[in-house]
Amino acid sequence: MTFYLYALLILFSQQLSARDIWTPEQAWTWFNAQKPYIMGTELTVSSAANQLEMWQAETFDADLIDKEISYGSKLGFTVFRIFLHDLVYFKDPTGFKSRMNTVLNSLEKYGMKALFVFFDSENPDTNPTLGQQPKPLPAKCDSVYAYTPNMTILNDPSKHEILKPYIIDVVGTFANDSRVLAWDVYNEPGFSGSDNRNPAQDILLQLVFEWARSANPTQPLTSPVMFNTPALPIQTNNSDVISVHIYTDVAKFEKLIKTCQQYQRPIIVTEFLARGPISSYFSNILPLGKQYNVGMIAWGHVVGKTEWNMPWDSWNKGVSYVEYPPTVWFQDIFRQDGEPYLREEAQIVKRLNGCPLGYHSKVNNWTCYNAYDTPKSWADVQAACQSDWSYPVTINNAFENSDVK
Ligand SMILES: *[C@@H]1O[C@H](CO)[C@@H](O)[C@H](O)[C@H]1NC(C)=O
Ligand SMILES: *[C@@H]1O[C@H](CO)[C@@H](O)[C@H](O)[C@H]1NC(C)=O
Ligand SMILES: *[C@@H]1O[C@H](CO)[C@@H](O)[C@H](O)[C@H]1NC(C)=O
Ligand SMILES: *[C@@H]1O[C@H](CO)[C@@H](O)[C@H](O)[C@H]1NC(C)=O
Repeated sequence: MTFYLYALLILFSQQLSARDIWTPEQAWTWFNAQKPYIMGTELTVSSAANQLEMWQAETFDADLIDKEISYGSKLGFTVFRIFLHDLVYFKDPTGFKSRMNTVLNSLEKYGMKALFVFFDSENPDTNPTLGQQPKPLPAKCDSVYAYTPNMTILNDPSKHEILKPYIIDVVGTFANDSRVLAWDVYNEPGFSGSDNRNPAQDILLQLVFEWARSANPTQPLTSPVMFNTPALPIQTNNSDVISVHIYTDVAKFEKLIKTCQQYQRPIIVTEFLARGPISSYFSNILPLGKQYNVGMIAWGHVVGKTEWNMPWDSWNKGVSYVEYPPTVWFQDIFRQDGEPYLREEAQIVKRLNGCPLGYHSKVNNWTCYNAYDTPKSWADVQAACQSDWSYPVTINNAFENSDVK
């Protein structure tokens, strides 16, 4: 009896210590403190075809990850969205967290933070296994990215509890860590994986929010809204900040942001960028995001084994881009040597990131180079631009100055 009471007490005190979902006011205080601006992209290192290859000890490449993070810093990125994998954790929790710490150290070195993603049921490899990963198919986008958890666990809700220690341990370990921006508990639940709208995803989604919250994170929790999915009310009821994926042109982007504003919480677009027919570019979408004061995180980074430069229709049977690759990269931003796919695009990103490299304001003599606080002279800026990917430009009208803080 005494033991039973004691157990209850422990349970009760644990529940007491779990934090509440933030109020919109708390969420705005957090959002407004993120300086200069939440902007970045997804990070799967170019040598990895999926999350397992990125995180397993045998293939974890800290140097390459550091290098590819540094490319992002040149564009003024402040965040990378990074997918994790439960199997790698369960094989060696300490090793996995230590590799996470290594990545966080690199991010911190370049003034950036991580938005970690736990679960994802939207990928071709539905039953991933540890060890050597399958070879990506040529000219197919995202051909071996992996489910997490696997189908065996996902489809049997009585097994979901197996995942609880993973979430509690990882969130708990980094709960007070300022190098973590936020936790994305489940990528696009119920959207369009191979088991489209599997209700087991909604059950797991509710649980992962609760587990993560019980670890008392100082960072916000979220899961990207895809609108007409059964997961929507679970996401909006449990997210501290609203995140959303928007692959559309300008007109629809604006409409969807307005739809998200109904929740009266800060908004982070955690996926955009789809060049070509979808018309989601840095040049048209990023300025709008900034205008609406939403965080902006693109998809793709350094072209590599995930082949996110290939369009979604490369998945379709009968389509092969091996012989005739598309003329435009669909996603991804950098070549492997660190040269941007498009210099003009890189320049737009830098300018919109508030501390534009190579820009100089005639109005107030404000100069800024590569996000350093020390102002540089116009001559220095011109010289720096020669060796970087920028073109020195004079900002001399109100609109241009308005995006310079
Ligand atoms: C599925 O994942 C769990 C961990 O989440 C693991 O324990 C189990 O062995 C995996 N099952 C298969 C068939 O790979
Ligand atoms: C986080 O901070 C809280 C409050 O100061 C503390 O109780 C908790 O142990 C800390 N967690 C970690 C992992 O440092
Ligand atoms: C979301 O919250 C609303 C209002 O509290 C509640 O009526 C609804 O049942 C909740 N839905 C889910 C799926 O949690
Ligand atoms: C800007 O710099 C120029 C030359 O360095 C100087 O002549 C001018 O007075 C400065 N303008 C302001 C507003 O400080």
